[in-house]
Amino acid sequence: MMFLKTLCLPLVITFLSLSSYCFGLGRYREEDPFHVDFRRGRAYHLPTSYRHPYFRTFGVRGQPNYHNSYYKNEIQSRLDRASGAATPKVVNVDDFGAKANGRDDSQAFKKAWNYACSSSQGAIMVVPKKKIYRLKPINFSGPCKSPLLLKIYGTLEATEDHSDYQDNGRRWLYFDNVENLRVEGGGIIDGNGKTWWEKSCKVNKALPCKEAPTAVTFNECTNLRVSSLRIKDAQQMHVIFQKCVNVKAFNLLVTAPGNSPNTDGIHVTGTQNIYINNCVIGTGDDCISIVSGSKNVRATGITCGPGHGISIGSLGAGNSAAYVSNVIINKATLSGTDNGVRIKTWQGGSGYAKNIKFQNIVMYNVSNPIIIDQNYCDQENPCRKQTSAVQVSNVLYQNIRGTSASNVAMKFDCSQSVPCRQIYLQNVALKAEETKQASSSCANVILSYRGDVSPPCSSRS
Ligand SMILES: *[C@@H]1O[C@H](CO)[C@@H](O)[C@H](O)[C@H]1NC(C)=O
Ligand SMILES: *[C@@H]1O[C@H](CO)[C@@H](O)[C@H](O)[C@H]1NC(C)=O
Repeated sequence: MMFLKTLCLPLVITFLSLSSYCFGLGRYREEDPFHVDFRRGRAYHLPTSYRHPYFRTFGVRGQPNYHNSYYKNEIQSRLDRASGAATPKVVNVDDFGAKANGRDDSQAFKKAWNYACSSSQGAIMVVPKKKIYRLKPINFSGPCKSPLLLKIYGTLEATEDHSDYQDNGRRWLYFDNVENLRVEGGGIIDGNGKTWWEKSCKVNKALPCKEAPTAVTFNECTNLRVSSLRIKDAQQMHVIFQKCVNVKAFNLLVTAPGNSPNTDGIHVTGTQNIYINNCVIGTGDDCISIVSGSKNVRATGITCGPGHGISIGSLGAGNSAAYVSNVIINKATLSGTDNGVRIKTWQGGSGYAKNIKFQNIVMYNVSNPIIIDQNYCDQENPCRKQTSAVQVSNVLYQNIRGTSASNVAMKFDCSQSVPCRQIYLQNVALKAEETKQASSSCANVILSYRGDVSPPCSSRS
């Protein structure tokens, strides 16, 4: 019996690998255009320890429910205490001199951060509730000695004096090079951006174009979790994940007026393995923008509008090379936005945007529901004609329905010299909001259809 087992197992394995080799079983899936394979990074798993206040499960009185993570944590911490393991330090910003009285609290926050960050037993930095702390730009820098949890229960509000931002001009709250950081708490981060919007050249054409600060930047952070926060009225962009690895961002509410300039909701740049889930975003620019160097990006459960939609790009500005791959946007609702799902590249760029899935998306009165724009030009002077372009390939649009505010529901405006390849459309149903008669405009694109696709391309060039 034993002998048979040891003999058979290798035989079976050999047969399986031989058969897939001989009959191409392993390759078929790759060749099916409607099967897009993405490597799943660690960060793709659903957050496990976050407890939604409405879905909390309670144990029977006196009988702990062992499925409840609260009890698991509690038991773990009792065990830790019994064994003499360290419990995290609690660091309250008020204990470091924060007053929340309308004056600048930056120094207290810096001191509290430094103290928390240098704790070797873990730390919980607490921003108390029902208080408003005013902050100048702050560099919350790592590396820290142990994992850090930043609990924002109250409100962080940006100072309005533009001279406070002289040092850099692009940052307000800046988390730099921190590992194992969690930011949460249900509080508010308020960029107080009105005075910046007024000074934007997009609002006042007479003024020179200058960048304004990003409300919250996470730069080079690893194993980062940002959740349960309201981020509003950023000076320019709301949240940037820059050169980070393994990120979860969920339960975020990001809001600014629809006419506030360049106030992207969540901007992903040079970041790998990021999972954005359950976010409501309405601002004056892209709800989510994903740009060069980003790989393994997944966004699910996104509600977007007002704003410019969900964008990959812009890519390739100033003849640059850009690389974006493995992006999944699944389950999104967009209402009244300028674009639905968009890929935008400048002429003259190089590199690629590939392996992208847009699926299960509902649009309400969106001006350009599906768009690839390889002639993107967001500058004062018209862009000159150039032949090189970022290659767009292997893009799947699946189960996309709703209404278009314009008559052109789908627009593929691809590069003449580097056409869009492997563009797959499956079950697309878009109608014009007003006339009900939508069309599609398709230039320099190689398309495949499956299921019902409406409106299909009429003109192809
Ligand atoms: C933040 O502080 C760290 C350490 O002091 C420094 O290396 C880094 O350059 C600072 N970053 C910014 C944006 O000021
Ligand atoms: C659709 O959007 C357009 C502008 O984008 C707007 O003028 C129109 O009122 C909207 N229609 C509905 C039904 O919301």
